[in-house]
Amino acid sequence: MIRAIYPGSFDPVSNGHLDIIRRAAEKVDELIVAVLQNRNKNGSLFTVEERLDQLRLVTRDLPNVTVDCFEGLLVDFAKQRDVQVIIRGLRAVTDFESEFQMALTNRSLSPHLETFFIPTSVEYLYLSSSTIKEVASFGGNICGMVPKELEPALLEKFKK
Ligand code: PNS
Repeated sequence: MIRAIYPGSFDPVSNGHLDIIRRAAEKVDELIVAVLQNRNKNGSLFTVEERLDQLRLVTRDLPNVTVDCFEGLLVDFAKQRDVQVIIRGLRAVTDFESEFQMALTNRSLSPHLETFFIPTSVEYLYLSSSTIKEVASFGGNICGMVPKELEPALLEKFKK
């Protein structure tokens, strides 16, 4: 039985994230989508609670997916949850260096924890949460970038 974790900031959840969640969930027995609750990471658009609710909403049809948050080191949370695999999406060469560094750091901290990379689907190659926030902040069209049911919440944030 493979229990995996897909960690991230998910601020906001994009269609690229959802694509990785769906594809990973098909390959593992249990997938925990874990939102980083970082006290030092200020300036998030959505609170951790909002992001947890959003992730639960968009993964409601995936029975082997649960959503949670963690603080501190990912490897510690993975150990608590008896997780063997970390899932990360890879968009392009630009992601590679930092992802490789993260994977090696996690492996040096916890040698039995492997990172599995899933290449992002081509249609989401250009997407990032920061780009989505920028487009939304200027009132641009975010259709196709985030799950449909999350569009109103994102647009609402920038109305205020
Ligand atoms: O979506 P993101 O922001 O690229 O996700 C980054 C995340 C949350 C996976 C990463 O920052 C993380 O795991 N942070 C927890 C702290 C940690 O374990 N650091 C050591 C590995 S670099």
